[in-house]
Order: sequence, then structure tokens, then C-alpha cells
Amino acid sequence: MIRDTSEFNSAPWRKIGWDRLQQVRSVPTMLAGAEQKLYYWLTSEWTRDIGAVVDLGCFVGGSTARLAAGHQSAGKRSWIHAYDRFKADERTKKNELYRKGIATFKGENTYWLTRDLLEPWDERISLHRGDIMDKRWDGGPIELLILDAAKSADTTDGIAERFFSHLVPGQSLVVQQDYFHWRLPWIPVQMHLLSDWFQPVAFCPDDTVIFLNTRQIDDTALTAGRVGGLDDDALLRHLTEVQPLARSWRQRRRIYRMKRTVEANPGVRTGHLMNDPD
Ligand SMILES: C[S@@+](CC[C@H](N)C(=O)[O-])C[C@H]1O[C@@H](n2cnc3c(N)ncnc32)[C@H](O)[C@@H]1O
Repeated sequence: MIRDTSEFNSAPWRKIGWDRLQQVRSVPTMLAGAEQKLYYWLTSEWTRDIGAVVDLGCFVGGSTARLAAGHQSAGKRSWIHAYDRFKADERTKKNELYRKGIATFKGENTYWLTRDLLEPWDERISLHRGDIMDKRWDGGPIELLILDAAKSADTTDGIAERFFSHLVPGQSLVVQQDYFHWRLPWIPVQMHLLSDWFQPVAFCPDDTVIFLNTRQIDDTALTAGRVGGLDDDALLRHLTEVQPLARSWRQRRRIYRMKRTVEANPGVRTGHLMNDPD
């Protein structure tokens, strides 16, 4: 059975008061305000404890803390798994940590900082340190899969191969946190190629789009959804096909920007190597 997602149409997470997120404010995040509330709402109101919550690309745990706070408030019992390399360079430390109240520290390791920041929810979170491409998932069904690590086309395919077949058809959500990020055009293309297996549910500013998994992901799906081997023409063509969906959320210009980015960066499939055409 396919779960009814009409509730998402009214963006109910917007009604979550900041007071409920008070405890997480000390954990730095790159998420926009609406996205923070969405994450809290998803674990407090939406999930039914039928599988794990998996957060791919948690940085120092900002997204994980918002998920965990909602999870805790609703007394959920499933486990939250957060993955990252847990490394930050000096520029990222300055911009994303020190400016947000974290004390300065030497070196690039952020694992122990993350452990400290997530300590209030320690009993419900498991941290997985290292490259996601070196990991495998053997934690059973996944009810909520949050993606913020698909920074290259190959990683996007690798994440699908490792995690998508564990989604529960008709029930599980995939949250594509970078869906509208101009540097990562393979994300909307991947979800478009997988439209027989996923149905778009909602857009949450700044960049997030939520999908419901509707059919079991198998090898046919993984082959259909592969973005690593697409040439620029194919990428541009599929981005054109994404436009009606983007238009439905008034985000069409963001797809135009992605197309300009692909044109200005021929063959580039890694986000941080994409130059801004504007
Ligand atoms: C934009 S940040 C995540 C922000 C986070 N979700 C938050 O709420 O603040 C992206 C993260 O993905 C991680 N990442 C990217 N590719 C990865 C990979 N292949 N394996 C592990 N982590 C990866 C980076 O280390 C980085 O911390």
C-alpha cells in the first residue's frame, strides 16, 4: 500500500515552534530554517518506526540533531545512523563552526566534536566515520533516508547502490537536501530517471525535495537511475524534462542555472569543481 502524503501539501513542519528546537540550536548546521523544522517534523510526526533513519553527510551532526530531537520527543525506538568523513578544512571550520560558536581547535578531525555535540541523543544515534563509498548497509529497512553527500555523480550512484534497495516501498521517504543546488545537476536527473520508483512529495526551501519510494528498488531501477555515465547532452536533456516539476514549485530558474552550469563546465561531474557561470 502507498502511504498518503497529502499532508505534505500544507507544509505542516512550518508550524513547529523554535522552542521545540531549542536544545539543538547549539549544534551548527548548514540547513535553512524551514529544512531544520522539516527534519524535526519528519521524525516527530511522520515516521512510524518501521525502519532506520539514515543521515548521509551530517557534517558535525546539525541535521542529525534535528532528526534526533524530533525522534526523542515522539519516543521513537528505531536507530538513527549518521555518516560523514568527519573532517573539515580551516576555511570550513572558520565559516561553519567558529562563526557559529564552536571553540577553535587544531587539525581537521571533527569526529569527537560531533560526538560531544550529539551527546544529548547519544543513545539513539550511531556514527559511521569515513567515506560512504567504503561502507555497506546491513541495518535492515530504512524508513527515512536523508541525502546531503551526493557531491559527485559517482557518489550519487554509489549511494543509490548501497541504500536504495533497503527502502520500504510505499512507506519510505528520501530527502534530497541538495536537489536544487546549482552545482549538483545529477541529483534532479537521478530522481527523474527513477520516476517509476519514486514520487515527488514536497519542496522545502532552500534546496530540499522529498520523495516517496513507491516500488522496490532492484537492479533494473539502479541501472535506469545511473547518472555517472551520462554525457553533457543527456544531462541537459534530462534537466529539460525536470522543468515541469520544478515549475510546479516555482523553481524553474534553478534548473536553468543548472543547465548553464553544465554548459560552462563540460564533462565535470564533481560539485566543488563546477565554476559558477553567473
Ligand atoms: C553540506 S555538508 C552536510 C551538512 C549537514 N547535513 C548539516 O546539517 O549541517 C555535506 C557533508 O557531506 C560529507 N560528505 C560528502 N561526501 C561524502 C562521502 N563520500 N563520504 C562521507 N561523507 C561525505 C562532507 O564531509 C560534509 O560534511
